Amino acid sequence: MNFKGKTAIATGAASGMALLFLQKMAAAGANVVLTDVNQDAVEAAAEEIRSRGGNAIGVAVDVRNYSQIEHAVNLATEKFGGVDFLMNSAGGAASRIWSQPDFGTASIESIEWCIDVNLKGAVLFSRAVLKQMCERRSGVIINMGSIDGVIGGSIDNGAAKSGMIGLSRGLAIYGAPYGVRSVCVSPGPVLTRPAMANMKTLLGHAARPDEVVELIMFLCSDKAVSITGCNYQIDGGRSCATGS
Ligand SMILES: NC(=O)c1ccc[n+]([C@@H]2O[C@H](COP(=O)([O-])OP(=O)(O)OC[C@H]3O[C@@H](n4cnc5c(N)ncnc54)[C@H](O)[C@@H]3O)[C@@H](O)[C@H]2O)c1
Repeated sequence: MNFKGKTAIATGAASGMALLFLQKMAAAGANVVLTDVNQDAVEAAAEEIRSRGGNAIGVAVDVRNYSQIEHAVNLATEKFGGVDFLMNSAGGAASRIWSQPDFGTASIESIEWCIDVNLKGAVLFSRAVLKQMCERRSGVIINMGSIDGVIGGSIDNGAAKSGMIGLSRGLAIYGAPYGVRSVCVSPGPVLTRPAMANMKTLLGHAARPDEVVELIMFLCSDKAVSITGCNYQIDGGRSCATGS
């Protein structure tokens, strides 16, 4: 796929699927803006993309902070003329990241982190790019959900990730008159961490990160011009395996 002249921005881009998405977008000709709370990691990743001839900048953004989001979007606009693709990817299950698997005893801080980073951050970042996407009549917003948001699972993560489906539908309705699309992508286990291989799926294996990223690139491309407002499960049939 050729994304020459387009600009992609992603949250949580210091690692995992967002980093891979922007690396692949840069290889396909796009300008890329890597944002994450981990400033050193996004700056190093941007430098690595530039060393291979790509156009990349790394910007520190905590997605809970709207002025940091606006700063990154303004930088992208000044340097590259606007944002064509946003991937809201920052976050993950608080039960894993905070090592608090039992919701009944999990700290309020961890629960607030989960909702704020996984959902509120995506709502705020979408707000920051939507107006200019509509004005430029070009844009795709990809929201990273999770199979937890479809079948349940981790309670706070499931709540946030269900919200990503609603966010995508709302953005699709708002953006449609301007040709702006939004899609939720809900993975089951993905091998961004080896432990994900232990999670049950109908097919008996977790997805590779590049499988998910290639789906996202397809959704960003003109081949997907008729796709908006829906939720793509890429879960190896986990939702069937658990009987939901
Ligand atoms: N990996 C999986 O198996 C899987 C499954 C289902 C859904 N997902 C979802 O896909 C997305 C990406 O997953 P991954 O495994 O590729 O990611 P990852 O865990 O490798 O990276 C998440 C990134 O988010 C960043 N981050 C944390 N707090 C932040 C904040 N306040 N502001 C900005 N950035 C912040 C981290 O620094 C990290 O770089 C996540 O939303 C996750 O919930 C992943």
